[in-house]
Amino acid sequence: MKTFEKHGARIEVWRDLSEASARAAELFTQIAISSTETRDRFSVALSGGSTPKALYALLADDAWQKSLAHVWPLAHVFWTDERCVPPSDPQSNYRMAQEALLAHVTVPEDQIYRMRGEDEPESAAKGYASLLENVFGTSAPRFDLILLGMGADAHTASIFPHSPLLKTADDTPPVAAPYVEKLNAFRLTMTLRVLNSAANTIFLVSGKDKAEPLRRVFASVERDEELPARWVRPTSGELVWLVDEDAAQLLD
Ligand code: 6PG
Repeated sequence: MKTFEKHGARIEVWRDLSEASARAAELFTQIAISSTETRDRFSVALSGGSTPKALYALLADDAWQKSLAHVWPLAHVFWTDERCVPPSDPQSNYRMAQEALLAHVTVPEDQIYRMRGEDEPESAAKGYASLLENVFGTSAPRFDLILLGMGADAHTASIFPHSPLLKTADDTPPVAAPYVEKLNAFRLTMTLRVLNSAANTIFLVSGKDKAEPLRRVFASVERDEELPARWVRPTSGELVWLVDEDAAQLLD
């Protein structure tokens, strides 16, 4: 594994997604254990898409169950973003994480906070912000861990290139319901106000189609509305990118 620092982030390059996912499981476990030891609680926001599936399956596996057994009952599980579909829809990020991980571990039902993709988007976003407020006492909490992915267009969560959420990055609600032109669909997403408040942020990125966006994201620190993933810069937290060799091939 190669590791280096760039623009305040630690980048770890692993041979393939399986190795990067194993490392992600290790970091997830370390953060979860230390959070529950200090605060009797572990707050985590899961990302969607396909890349994290292997990580979620690992965390559900017996081998990791032992070290996480006492963590799950203290975990509060949120999502970074969601498609505007019902929870039973194959596109649902909730469904993916529920099937790969949450159905196999002992997080209490009332500590799993699903974004209501089936509701009218704006009210679902407002409802999720209230949920954050109810659980944390603030609608812009400091998560112990936020997991993120990156699209081939350098979007992260559901903040896409040229999103209005970038124009008002420092002054948006904590959860928004942007209309995404290229998808011709609404999405629900935590905004940078929440994403940049986390104590630990882990990007998990794999595949050669992510090589060019990754190169561009790390080419500078300047805010560029073409590159939303570059805007994730925790104000006072750890930022780690776990990438495989295919995704890292253009990084200098
Ligand atoms: C989503 C995700 C999104 C994802 C990227 C990468 O809802 O799609 O939250 O931000 O992380 O699109 O997706 P893949 O992992 O499928 O490449």
